[in-house]
Amino acid sequence: METQTENKKIVLSFVQSSGAPTIGNYFGAFKNWHDMAQENDCIFGVADLHAITVRNTPADLRRRSKEMYAWLLALGLDPEKNVIFMQSHVQEHALMAWILNCYTMFGEASRMTQFKDKSARHADNVNVGLFTYPILMAADILLYNADMVPVGDDQKQHLEIARDIAERFNGIYGDVLKVPAPYIGKKGARILSLQEPDKKMSKSDPNEKSFISLTDPDAVIAKKIKSAVTDSEACVRYGEGKDGINNLMALYACCTGLDYDAIERDFAGKGYGDFKAAVAEAVVAEISPVRSEYERIIADKAYIEQCMADGAEKARRIAARTARKVMKKIGFYQI
Ligand code: TRP
Repeated sequence: METQTENKKIVLSFVQSSGAPTIGNYFGAFKNWHDMAQENDCIFGVADLHAITVRNTPADLRRRSKEMYAWLLALGLDPEKNVIFMQSHVQEHALMAWILNCYTMFGEASRMTQFKDKSARHADNVNVGLFTYPILMAADILLYNADMVPVGDDQKQHLEIARDIAERFNGIYGDVLKVPAPYIGKKGARILSLQEPDKKMSKSDPNEKSFISLTDPDAVIAKKIKSAVTDSEACVRYGEGKDGINNLMALYACCTGLDYDAIERDFAGKGYGDFKAAVAEAVVAEISPVRSEYERIIADKAYIEQCMADGAEKARRIAARTARKVMKKIGFYQI
C-alpha cells in the first residue's frame, strides 16, 4: 500500500497486547475491522510500545505480542492487502511521540480520564509513560494519515486529543498532518460482563466466568453462557432492568445478524435455558473457526515473522515519509 488507493479511506487501529482477546474485543472491534478492511486501505497494529506502561515480564511481553499479532491474521485480515504490523518494529512511533509531546499542553494531557483511572488502579507505578500514552497514540494515528480510526468509547477522548494536537501543529506549520474524522464508521457492539452486565466485558476481570476468551474451548463457552446472570422474568425481550438478557441478545444478534424483534419472536414462550443454549451454539459457530485458524497460525512462527517483517516494511515507508516532512517543517537540520 504505497500510496492511498483512489477513493479509498485509510482506516487505522491498534490493539494492546495485554492477553488473549475476548469476544468483547471480537464483536466490539475485530469484526468491525474485518468488515472495514473490505472497502478501505487498512493499517492495523499491535500496540506493544503502549503495553510497557504496566510491568510485564520480558517473556510475557514477547509471547503476548506475537499472540495478538497471530489473532489479527486469524481474523482473516489480509496481510498482503493491508498493513498489519508490530508498533515497536517502526521506530518512527517513538520519534513522533517525542515531537508531539512538545505540541501537547500539560493541562490537556492531565484531563485524560483514562490516565486518572489507570493511575488510581496502578498507584504503585504511575510512570510518565502512562501520562503520555495518548500522545504515543496520536503519533500512531498521525504518522499514517488516517482518515478513520475505529475505537471503543473508552478511547474517544484519546482520538480527540490526537485531533487537537494535529490541528495545533497545522496551525503553526501549515497543512502537514491529516486530521482524522472524529468518528469512525460503523459502531461495533459493546459486550458486557456475563456476571455483572452493567460493566464492560474485560479480560482482566478476576472472575473468569465473566468473560469469554477467544481461546476458550467450545464446552467452556457454553458453560460460561449457561451461568450468565439473567433476571427472574423468564421472558426473552430487550428492556430496562434486563441487563443480562440484553447482553445475551446483543451477542446473539452479533452472531446471527437478527434484530431484537426477530429474536423476541423466535424465543416467544421459551425459557432462558433454551435461549442460552441457542446463544452458546451461535457464539461457538462464530468463534471456533477463528480459534482453529489462530491455532494453525500460532504454530507457524516462520509465517508470522514473515508477515511481521513485510508489515513493518510497508508501515515504515509511510511513517518515515511523514516523520521526515514533520521534521523538515519544524526546522531540524536535514542532510
Ligand atoms: N489505546 C488503544 C486501546 O487501548 C490502543 C491504541 C494504541 C490505538 N494506539 C492506537 C487505537 C491508535 C487506535 C489508534 O484500545
